[in-house]
Amino acid sequence: MPVRIVFLAQSMTELPAADDWLSEGEKAILAGLRFPKRRADWRLGRWTAKRAICRYEAKDFSSSRSLEIRAAADGAPEAFWNNTPADLSLSISHSRGRSLCAIGPRGNPIGCDLEWIEPREGGFAEAYFADEESRFAEQSPLGPDVAVNLIWSAKESVMKALRQGLRLDTRSIVIAPETQVDALGWARFRGIHPESSGVFAGWWRIDCGFVCTIASRRPALVPEPLPGGGVLPFLP
Ligand SMILES: CC(C)(COP(=O)(O)OP(=O)(O)OC[C@H]1O[C@@H](n2cnc3c(N)ncnc32)[C@H](O)[C@@H]1OP(=O)(O)O)[C@@H](O)C(=O)NCCC(=O)NCCS
Repeated sequence: MPVRIVFLAQSMTELPAADDWLSEGEKAILAGLRFPKRRADWRLGRWTAKRAICRYEAKDFSSSRSLEIRAAADGAPEAFWNNTPADLSLSISHSRGRSLCAIGPRGNPIGCDLEWIEPREGGFAEAYFADEESRFAEQSPLGPDVAVNLIWSAKESVMKALRQGLRLDTRSIVIAPETQVDALGWARFRGIHPESSGVFAGWWRIDCGFVCTIASRRPALVPEPLPGGGVLPFLP
């Protein structure tokens, strides 16, 4: 049975100035973040994840102070209600004042990523991509900028689902995107990590200049937007 994955996207303009929606533990973490960009990204990621989890679990957002998004030792986000693990798995990405949180069932690793579509420096694909990915980037009907950023984003999503991030050699994961999009603009990709025999089912979508990818260890239905994602940046 394919799993259900939901997502919520937010932008900096939706983020309140006050911190009264953070738990005491989260306020302590925030106090230790010195760099303004990191503080802003971290707050936006927490805001998006907490809004998404409250919607997913049909809880009022006023309960968000009892919800804590903690970084595990490997950096992956984990959610707790009053110190009890939430019954879900989640992933967070932030980029250029936008953020994305994907949520799925507990026990099924997922990863999500947002990537601004822009030209990459020469030699990028040769340095970071497997041969078949470089060929896709050169020949894809999507054009090189979309294709390169799509492959990169899908790799990051798979690396997050593996809880490794860029500790992994990016060439150790091979992404194979499909280019036929559905009515809502989603298309599939497959991510393979031969060292762990990991095969990931993914979805990708272009929106407002970003490529958005979501990877799941188990086959997944097309990602479902949670209500209240705002008019922009992501269309439902
Ligand atoms: C995961 C990683 C690739 C994401 O980097 P990015 O593309 O710049 O940032 P994104 O906004 O898309 O994602 C950041 C989020 O990924 C999540 N994340 C971080 N490490 C993760 C891991 N090991 N597994 C899964 N998710 C992870 C976090 O939720 C983080 O946001 P937060 O710190 O505000 O909670 C990168 O942080 C990484 O490789 N981390 C692990 C290894 C590491 O720390 N290396 C040092 C730098 S090489």
